[in-house]
Amino acid sequence: MLSLSLQVQRPWRRTGLKPPAPAALAVLLALALLALARLTPPPHHPLHPLPASSPPAPWQEVAAPLSRGRAPSGRVPVLQEQPHGRGRRQRRGAAGDAPPWFSDDDLQKMQLLASGQVVSKTRIPAHGQVLRVGLQAIGDAGRDSAPERDCQDGHCGLIKRPRDLYEVLAFHLDRVLGLNRSLPAVARRFTSHLLPYSYTNGSLRPIIWWAPDLQHLEDANNDQNSCALGWLQYQEMLRPHGPMPADGDAPCSSIPRGEWSRLALFDFLLQVHDRLDRYCCGFEPDPSEPCMEEMLHEKCRNPAELVLVHILVRRSAPSRLVFIDNAGKPQHPEEKLNFRLLQGIDSFPASAVATLRSGRLQSLLLESLRVDRELWESHGGAEGLRPLLRTIDRRARILLRHIREHNLTVFEDTSQQ
Ligand SMILES: *[C@@H]1O[C@H](CO)[C@@H](O)[C@H](O)[C@H]1NC(C)=O
Ligand SMILES: *[C@@H]1O[C@H](CO)[C@@H](O)[C@H](O)[C@H]1NC(C)=O
Ligand SMILES: *[C@@H]1O[C@H](CO)[C@@H](O)[C@H](O)[C@H]1NC(C)=O
Repeated sequence: MLSLSLQVQRPWRRTGLKPPAPAALAVLLALALLALARLTPPPHHPLHPLPASSPPAPWQEVAAPLSRGRAPSGRVPVLQEQPHGRGRRQRRGAAGDAPPWFSDDDLQKMQLLASGQVVSKTRIPAHGQVLRVGLQAIGDAGRDSAPERDCQDGHCGLIKRPRDLYEVLAFHLDRVLGLNRSLPAVARRFTSHLLPYSYTNGSLRPIIWWAPDLQHLEDANNDQNSCALGWLQYQEMLRPHGPMPADGDAPCSSIPRGEWSRLALFDFLLQVHDRLDRYCCGFEPDPSEPCMEEMLHEKCRNPAELVLVHILVRRSAPSRLVFIDNAGKPQHPEEKLNFRLLQGIDSFPASAVATLRSGRLQSLLLESLRVDRELWESHGGAEGLRPLLRTIDRRARILLRHIREHNLTVFEDTSQQ
């Protein structure tokens, strides 16, 4: 809990408040948590003893569940390190602050996801592999909790499978590139007794902020979309003189062209096929691919049957796509990259392309991922993450070549586009 996982102090700076002195803060927290610890006996987790080397602190039982059950290095929580280490350096100068591509809202949500106490859980019908949880931020303790209301208030997260962890990387990529279409996501180890054992067995899982107002079609067969869109209609819409947003009748007509450019760029870098090409028409799939197992690939012969999936917007912003389920395929081989994801796109967001061209993509991603301590440490820090980032960077170069060879353009991306 607390800012144990996220090294983020910016809200103080932005609001003009002076950050509390680290020592004073630590004392306050220790006191608050001591009081908490008396009120709520910590759940017993026989399988997650404290690492023998970490000295017992009064607050550790309740405040540091994230640091339990990990490798026996006995890592002390970030908060404890702050008076001597990074934390203080970060607060001294702008250089150590949270990277500028995170908005204050992002930072708040990441903090909630990383350290909020799990106060409720809800299964999602037909999605057995995920759990929606209500989260209570530190300082909100004692607020009564009602799952539905909490979620409407933006205090919920979706815990996904350990293998969906790349979704956290995708979130960082989205922000580094200034696309700003994914929902905040962090990696976390859960210990709450409210959760089933498979969620508390020590595995790192991604938790994604739950957007309360995603628009879903009423149609039970198509509730993964905000609007129904076939591949051919989509391609038609992308044509320079295709239907414009003003044509109210066209499907997904509230979504401007620039949104599809962002989506295509993002999905190409991550090789997310689900949205634009869930049939794997753009590459030769292995027999183990879901598109093969579900016999979808056969439909490629008839483009009129192909539909887009996970095309979502929020009621509060119907002209912006929301990217969900972004884990993608880090292992997807380079010789099989899916160029169909780029089909019909003739212009890309200028600032994202500039970042790809800068040669700094890997270092920016490292700077960003460093904020997520759980992900960072579980992957062995910069060295461990390097292969993954290199893969994305190589895809970026291939995308730039595609742009060059096809004489594609860039557009200035105000958020309206
Ligand atoms: C990112 O998008 C959210 C809405 O989805 C918006 O509130 C926020 O201001 C945007 N941030 C930036 C930096 O554009
Ligand atoms: C914990 O459970 C999950 C889901 O069943 C599984 O994928 C993971 O390997 C388990 N982790 C450990 C450390 O046993
Ligand atoms: C790109 O532009 C060059 C020079 O104008 C032209 O020769 C080439 O055919 C164009 N390529 C494509 C794919 O349009």
